[in-house]
Amino acid sequence: VCKPVAAVDDDIRRLADDMLETMYDAPGIGLAAIQIGEPVRMLVIDLAKEDEAKAPHVFINPQIVASSDDISIYEEGCLSIPDYYAEVERPETVTVTYLDRDGKAQEMVADGLMATCLQHEIDHLNGVLFIDHISKLKRDMVVRKFKKLAREKAPQRLVGDEPGVGVELLDALGDRLEAHRLAELQQRVDHRRRAVGVLQHLAHERPVDLQ
Ligand code: NI
Repeated sequence: VCKPVAAVDDDIRRLADDMLETMYDAPGIGLAAIQIGEPVRMLVIDLAKEDEAKAPHVFINPQIVASSDDISIYEEGCLSIPDYYAEVERPETVTVTYLDRDGKAQEMVADGLMATCLQHEIDHLNGVLFIDHISKLKRDMVVRKFKKLAREKAPQRLVGDEPGVGVELLDALGDRLEAHRLAELQQRVDHRRRAVGVLQHLAHERPVDLQ
């Protein structure tokens, strides 16, 4: 479980900027700090469409203090779970308290996509993924899909069974491989590592730090 942010200082604001950049690059509409390896209670959201001006929100130590009985259903995806989408039921409206980028206490009553996105991202801070909200039947499909992905995407010559090993090997070989070849392999390793992470998460082996 991610730790609360003790003080909103320049380091935290820098982390917020890094998170926004990672999210825009992905591209995605929300990102939790743990997804870039920082186990703190912090997330960013921007629901602006491609042709609209950016509308970044930073939520530090967010807490859901009220949820509606009314439910809404959205098709959700997650940067930690490549190429998988599923409909998830969640409360339609939530009230969230948090600190903003300046450390000021705020409260937001969110509905629609913002409510869904906030709940999805706050789940990340508690080691919960959207696939934890779907039916057993659909979850079994996820397991099959990611088992296949974990096998298929492995660059066999470079990557062992341990997900971290491939990355170190790639780093060591860095100066000998062409940059684009390296990037392609890195991407395949990342993809496979996420697939392995999803499987570990579902097996409750590593419930929290899925990146
Ligand atoms: Ni996510």
